[in-house]
Amino acid sequence: MSDWEPMIFEFDTYAELRRFSAENPEQFWGNIAENLDWDAKWDSVVADGEGPIPRWFSGGRLNACYNCVDRHVLAGFGDQTAIYYESPVTRTSRELSFRDLQDATARLGGAMQKHGVGKGNRVLIYMPNSPEAAIAMLACARIGAIHSVVFGGFAAKELAVRIDDATPKLVLAASCGIEGAKILPYQPILEEAYDLADHEIDATIYWQREQQLADVTARDDLDWHEELAAAEWADCVPVAATDPLYILYTSGTTGQPKGVVRDTGGYLVALSWTMEGLYNCRPGETYWAASDVGWVVGHSYIVYGPLMNRSATVIFEGKPVGTPDAGIFWEIIAKYAVRSFFTAPTAIRAIKQVDPEGALAAGHDMSQLRAVYLAGERTDPSTLFWIEKLLDKPVVDHWWQTETGWAICGNPLGIEELPIKAGSTSVPMPGWQICCLDEEGVPVGPNETGSIVAKLPLPPGAAPTLWNAEQRYVEAYLERYEGYYLSGDAGFVDEDGFVFVMTRIDDVINVAGHRLSSSAIEEVLAANPAVAECAVVGVHDALKGQIPAGFVVLKAGSAIDAAELAERLVADVRREIGPVASFKRVHAVSRLPKTRSGKILRRNIRQIADGEAPTVPATIEDRSALDELLYLFEQKAKDA
Ligand code: COA
Ligand code: AMP
Repeated sequence: MSDWEPMIFEFDTYAELRRFSAENPEQFWGNIAENLDWDAKWDSVVADGEGPIPRWFSGGRLNACYNCVDRHVLAGFGDQTAIYYESPVTRTSRELSFRDLQDATARLGGAMQKHGVGKGNRVLIYMPNSPEAAIAMLACARIGAIHSVVFGGFAAKELAVRIDDATPKLVLAASCGIEGAKILPYQPILEEAYDLADHEIDATIYWQREQQLADVTARDDLDWHEELAAAEWADCVPVAATDPLYILYTSGTTGQPKGVVRDTGGYLVALSWTMEGLYNCRPGETYWAASDVGWVVGHSYIVYGPLMNRSATVIFEGKPVGTPDAGIFWEIIAKYAVRSFFTAPTAIRAIKQVDPEGALAAGHDMSQLRAVYLAGERTDPSTLFWIEKLLDKPVVDHWWQTETGWAICGNPLGIEELPIKAGSTSVPMPGWQICCLDEEGVPVGPNETGSIVAKLPLPPGAAPTLWNAEQRYVEAYLERYEGYYLSGDAGFVDEDGFVFVMTRIDDVINVAGHRLSSSAIEEVLAANPAVAECAVVGVHDALKGQIPAGFVVLKAGSAIDAAELAERLVADVRREIGPVASFKRVHAVSRLPKTRSGKILRRNIRQIADGEAPTVPATIEDRSALDELLYLFEQKAKDA
């Protein structure tokens, strides 16, 4: 390992990179794979045969924690900072070196082994954005266990669904989360989830936080510090490159979340390319993804990407505004000399709303910052121009999904800075062959809108399947257009090959850069005895991009007052799905607009709620339901 060197690029232009990686994918990715430390070399770079899509690095064996932690210590970088933890909500700043990480992951890994967790077992992680969450993930990887992190904003029922699907042996949890001034005890949420779930876990290890301790006196509740103190050191366990590193649940078009599976080898190889090719961040420099470990961005760029690259990662527990103010991002960028900064457009909009002139950026030396990267939702041009002007740095809108694990399109600043076109997510990254198809599967011309698809094989890192649901994977992504992966997004490619991602083609809603299923919320509304039928659509929101709005038809003879029902439904969604759904709006209507075949015209509902003229299909049943909605929103606009 001591001879490990940062990757050296031989491409001077994007065009060269594109040509070479498309014509020689095995050489291209195989070469990048040499940056990692392998216990056994792969038999094939990419090959058919295991599952629905070709797999990467079959036959290879490696360990993700070793590649992110141990090899850096062995190469003499043990004292280098691996994590800067900045938690304004607890008024804490803390640094962990690679040696600290090695020690903590080896001990937690040992503790888990003591409780019977081994290779291939699942471990659920329910923790706030903290070094302990990263330690939990890496410790699982260390012992070959498969982690599944659940975002703290999900409620007990959503946790229970994930517990039943992933069937974890063990849960690693914090005693509480902290949201601004609110302390959120996690133990009651977990206990409720355990009651709801059919699957029984063996034990929960609680990382105790002084703000709210968990009661660990029950037999199967354990204390993190005690467990680590008593644990034996666990060595890194090599796994197959095609073995799952983690399962991450995301919303689909049904209420049942999809367990996106990430394999180990291809993922690390892909991230390795991005750290320099896309994010232009070298070993020893600081990378900051202001996201949460509960999301895919957090997996790839709070934990695995930067650490594997021997970059320091910043873990931020707070909000872009209010913790303590809208200058916190600029303060952290200056404090840790952040070179590459990644966040969601909604976070920038939040700052812009509070500090429109960007006055709080003044006085912070951000000269080390090279670029800002935005993802999670489309970056609206006004947000792009605002942040570009404020920081005077390139702002890269890049497009990706939980399934892909890394960017499908972006601006490869580590190779060549392409012109920034507002509204576009730049160009396909190596390995991604993107085009837009019409309904019949025929490629549309430049600037014409179509369904955005990626030609198979997908590059390394992209999900090879869904956990326990291979057929669902095939149906959701591969069946619509043969030979292509269906992204679920629609948009166009311009004459220069720049990709514009405009909208979802399904009923997935994007709230503050997070995906939510309208069906999951509809299921909660429909369960109320007063509701005859309902529809949930994502309506425009100046801060969060979209928020879900419910439209309900009351059962005939229902005595409940519409306002009271709305209040109950909001509370139901919060309890059943979680506060992260940001579900606050319910409209009672006498009927929902439908086609003659009974399909609810969600698109028309959304258009009307957003003040757009509805594009009414010829198949509409009758217009009266639409007219009612038009009237309702006209009145609301007048009242506003
Ligand atoms: N644990 C528990 N509750 C959580 C939570 C967590 N980890 N995260 C969010 N919540 C709760 C919030 O407290 C809030 O509850 P409330 O209804 O009681 O106020 C609710 O879920 C919605 O949270 P959020 O969407 O974060 O809204 P907000 O109004 O608190 O903050 C933003 C708005 C824009 C500042 C915030 O959404 C944000 O920072 N977004 C950036 C997202 C991001 O980084 N995405 C990365 C993807 S690339
Ligand atoms: P998630 O899996 O939660 O990360 O959500 C992925 C979805 O978010 C994508 O399918 C898009 O709909 C949307 N998305 C993410 N990044 C972008 C972007 N840069 N531009 C447009 N949409 C985006």
